[in-house]
Amino acid sequence: MDMDLENRLVSTDYLPEDDGDNPLRPRSLREYIGQEKVKENLSVYIDAAKMRREALDHVLLYGPPGLGKTTLAAIIANELGVNFRITSGPALERPGDLAALLTNLEEGDVLFIDEIHRLPRTVEEILYPAMEDFTIDIINGKGQGAASIHLPLQKFTLIGATTRAGQLSAPLRDRFGVILRLELYTPEELSRIVSRSAKILEVPCDPEGALEVATRSRGTPRLANRLLKRVRDFALMLNDGVIDRATASHALDRMEVDALGLDMVDRRMLEAMIRHYNGGPVGLDTLAAVIGEEAITIEDVYEPYLMQIGFLTRTPRGRVVLPAAYAHLGLEPHGQTMF
Ligand code: ADE
Repeated sequence: MDMDLENRLVSTDYLPEDDGDNPLRPRSLREYIGQEKVKENLSVYIDAAKMRREALDHVLLYGPPGLGKTTLAAIIANELGVNFRITSGPALERPGDLAALLTNLEEGDVLFIDEIHRLPRTVEEILYPAMEDFTIDIINGKGQGAASIHLPLQKFTLIGATTRAGQLSAPLRDRFGVILRLELYTPEELSRIVSRSAKILEVPCDPEGALEVATRSRGTPRLANRLLKRVRDFALMLNDGVIDRATASHALDRMEVDALGLDMVDRRMLEAMIRHYNGGPVGLDTLAAVIGEEAITIEDVYEPYLMQIGFLTRTPRGRVVLPAAYAHLGLEPHGQTMF
């Protein structure tokens, strides 16, 4: 069967609908559900910076896609009472692109760089003195007439986001005073997020309905909110618009998102590992070839959830399928079908 890998329902990539003034986004730390440790520490750093009337130290947020790194960065700016400027590593093609942003910052502003691991080297080099000494050096002109201009900047806070801190160069990583790792959400946290979102969307959704959506959302709020919107459509057609456990379950089955949130691609990957490689160890590149995805996508998007639910583990010799996955797929070790 041909599968639409680019448009997986359970993709945690951005969609335009996730962007801009998304009403589901929390605006304050108090509204933000989950990531308790991160929130507690952040609120200390924010309050201390405000008390000292200084810019907050630079912050690096890392963790799998869809966990709310951009949301959290916007909240930090909001809590500090400063402007929030947003860009991304791939959007900053030339040093001048970054220089233009930096020279327009006001004192204490937050500059957010998403996918900061994808900054071009030449742009990254402008960032070092900007972060450390709040200055930039830009070369004006070419050849004989070229002149280096040294510009002071306002003190600002850089917030960088990346899926893995290990993807950053050491000199860049070392310039962040605060490094925070976001974790996948528990089903309970996600169900609070789903209930909150349902309320904002004015969809009746009982606690069991919210938990059903939450359990199938792979620990990821962005996905929970997306599935909620689709379940809402089924509920409207099938249950007078009310989301309860049965409606949610029916809708998610129809979308081929299974009881634990796995979709066809996850199942196909696990089944291939079991049938053709005896459950592993399978090298990452082999796995990538099997499902037609890039190795880095497997590491950042597929694996964190499969590892969290105890279906997959990483060993020095490759990935190994764990017993819980066999049970879920109805397969026995050695690849025979159980039923
Ligand atoms: N929407 C997306 N992420 C959220 C979070 N962590 N808390 C509340 N609402 C959210």
